Amino acid sequence: MHLAVFAQGVGVSQSVWRSPRTQPESMHSLAHWTRLVRLAEDGCFDAFFIADQLNLAPTIAKDATDRPDPIVVLAALAAVTSKIGLIGTSSTTYNDPYTVARQFATLDQMSDGRAGWNVVTTAIATAAANYGSDGLPDHEARYERGEEFVDVVRALWDAWATDAIVGDRATGVWADLDKIKAIDYAGEHFQVKGPMTLPRSPQGQLPLAQAGSSPTGMKLGARVADMVFTTQHHLAAATEFAESMRALAVAAGRAPDAVKVLPGITPIVGKTESEARELAREIGSFISEESTLGFLKQSFGGLDLSGYDLDEPFPDLRGALPAHASVSRPELFIKMALDEGLTVRQLAQRVGMSIGHRPLVGTPDTIADEMQRWFEAGAADGFIVLPADLPVGLEEFVDMVVPRLQDRGLLRKAYSGSTLREHLAE
Ligand SMILES: Cc1cc2nc3c(=O)[nH]c(=O)nc-3n(C[C@H](O)[C@H](O)[C@H](O)COP(=O)(O)O)c2cc1C
Repeated sequence: MHLAVFAQGVGVSQSVWRSPRTQPESMHSLAHWTRLVRLAEDGCFDAFFIADQLNLAPTIAKDATDRPDPIVVLAALAAVTSKIGLIGTSSTTYNDPYTVARQFATLDQMSDGRAGWNVVTTAIATAAANYGSDGLPDHEARYERGEEFVDVVRALWDAWATDAIVGDRATGVWADLDKIKAIDYAGEHFQVKGPMTLPRSPQGQLPLAQAGSSPTGMKLGARVADMVFTTQHHLAAATEFAESMRALAVAAGRAPDAVKVLPGITPIVGKTESEARELAREIGSFISEESTLGFLKQSFGGLDLSGYDLDEPFPDLRGALPAHASVSRPELFIKMALDEGLTVRQLAQRVGMSIGHRPLVGTPDTIADEMQRWFEAGAADGFIVLPADLPVGLEEFVDMVVPRLQDRGLLRKAYSGSTLREHLAE
């Protein structure tokens, strides 16, 4: 089973900074991030993952969700870890492939081969204004650029042959120019000469993650990703998604297990069921309506929900979304509301603790049982764990659930490889 942790501030549950279990005053410190990454490494996670959005959260008045630059944080964390993979998010809409290729190759050098890139196209419209544009490109246009962006980055990572450095003191030859190639890329969106400013990094081609579950997102993932992060709530739908990803990988000429499918879970662990439920209630008590509605609005591409009666059944908004909006996330939320007959208020409350991911509230054994059930059914190759609160939520998962998974032979007890790609191949 492959595990990654989604580390964000003091946890993903809205306004959890108010909980005495968190220390929001220190969440910007290197000490905080060091504690988190070491916990995940102690738990033998494949990777520590930092998500990113290029806008200040609209709910900042209530939520402590600022967004440090992932690559900078991960570079610092490379120095305090030795095994765990370090995956950062970079947008293909508001970046340049040469910059991204360099940043991640450098992170791979600094971490001895532990870097990975989460390829996102950015679905939040307010990010556009931070990059000199008054609107987000449409969904399909973003993915078109994203496809090309990844090709350029991968070509740059291949520009230096593994043996391009000669380093011969006697002759004074440092590098073999025949083994350092320009890429001369000329496409629809990018013209990039190359080569890279630095030699091939330890992994060369870094593992890629992809996290959009729309048909276009899945197609990109099937072609290029080593991991796909997804939001899934039901075993049948998750299995169908994983099977589609495997089939798409094969159609793209890859092995069916080339792409590891990792659905998100938010574990709330208690020594007893009632302790877990009480903890979930306590964490949920900090969630404000203002934040949940703000989060929903952002998830629906900025669609204003204020005109809807909060206690009426959730409206079927499928035809009403703006063209730039994310596809899979709103679909999932609308389906959840319609299937379960939720009101706007109830849906908002439902997604507030786990940014819409699947909460697993229970004892170490029941949580391990659920993870095992999905894993064995082929719905998941592992999970991306989004702790509701940090660091304690991660600590409890590592102390209580991880040993159960290890005892069942589902999770490594020690790292056998040293690079992220080796962890994923285990
Ligand atoms: C676990 C997980 C992590 C994600 N992390 C990010 C992120 O850091 N930045 C981002 O813009 N989108 C992130 N996303 C969302 C998707 O990448 C994507 O933006 C969105 O779902 C739109 O894709 P789609 O229309 O193909 O579904 C994440 C999704 C999941 C499931």
